[in-house]
Amino acid sequence: MAFKILVTSQKGGVGKSTLSANLVAYLSRTLGLGVTLIDWDPHGSSSTWLNQAPHVGAVVQHLSLPVDQGGNRPIFEARLQMRRAASECDILVCDLTWSDSLAGELMFEFDMVLVPTSVSEIELAATSGFLSRNRWVFDSATARRPMLVVCPTRVLNEQLNSDVFTKQRFPVSFMLAPPILEAQSARDLFERGYLMDARDVCGDSFREFGQAICAAREIRMAQATQPRQPITTKLSERDASSHRVPLTPAKSSVLEGMTSASQFSVLGRYRQRKVVEEQEAVVNSRSLAQMGIPEFLKRLARGNAAKL
Ligand SMILES: Nc1ncnc2c1ncn2[C@@H]1O[C@H](COP(=O)(O)OP(=O)(O)OP(=O)(O)O)[C@@H](O)[C@H]1O
Ligand SMILES: [Mg+2]
Repeated sequence: MAFKILVTSQKGGVGKSTLSANLVAYLSRTLGLGVTLIDWDPHGSSSTWLNQAPHVGAVVQHLSLPVDQGGNRPIFEARLQMRRAASECDILVCDLTWSDSLAGELMFEFDMVLVPTSVSEIELAATSGFLSRNRWVFDSATARRPMLVVCPTRVLNEQLNSDVFTKQRFPVSFMLAPPILEAQSARDLFERGYLMDARDVCGDSFREFGQAICAAREIRMAQATQPRQPITTKLSERDASSHRVPLTPAKSSVLEGMTSASQFSVLGRYRQRKVVEEQEAVVNSRSLAQMGIPEFLKRLARGNAAKL
């Protein structure tokens, strides 16, 4: 069954189409899997990007949803379109500007929901409102709830220090993706090429982002094949027993006891694992869950990622 990713936000211009087109290209090229994009954006930016830039082997569909009709029509139509596309690919990425007339149930069709946001106050407030309104989806107790990944985009170097991705601001269970940095190349590459090939900070950050999404996908797929276990292990209890965090956690140890707090840091742990694979060392440090995302970003900004 295809792995389904929704890239959405209710706010316009946050980078949904840039992220969608480039993620499709990244997944298609690096994983060598069949990737399909459904572009539900009337402007068709992500589909145009992939259709005009060098071909990466992905299938591109620009479709419309009867969003204005409300009721069950949009969700019914979306399911139909997704089912058709998903039957012929390994990964389906959908680019959609969310609207209140869409029923939140639609998100249960997806394995992962990516919500791009810049770290400007106005976008953070809109993102927070969107997530809060759909909290019942992301915090639902059902096994099929989608994995929510907040994706900081167009982040400036100096913004890496900001303390914005807190539980107070985003009162839902979410994971934080590595930030995609702001650069002119992201604008210039439209219809010409892909961020994963850019030799600048934006390219570096996008490759890191792509790797993290692949890691999150693996985690989600492993979860789906494992027998359901009660979500009872408290990360804080486990961490309290030891401050030594192995940076090459066995996948099972990343997965066990997924609480809100641990979900918050899974992508960060992926980064940790990568660093350790290079250094072949276990670093004595606090876990990201204890450290919190703002501190993680601060260390990143200080170039101290290797010491995480
Ligand atoms: N990392 C980045 N660095 C610089 N500019 C960016 C970056 N990502 C996106 N942009 C620019 O931000 C603007 C909005 O991006 P995009 O069209 O992807 O957003 P969107 O959420 O799909 O918008 P819409 O709601 O209109 O569909 C565009 O001008 C795009 O080139
Ligand atoms: Mg768009």
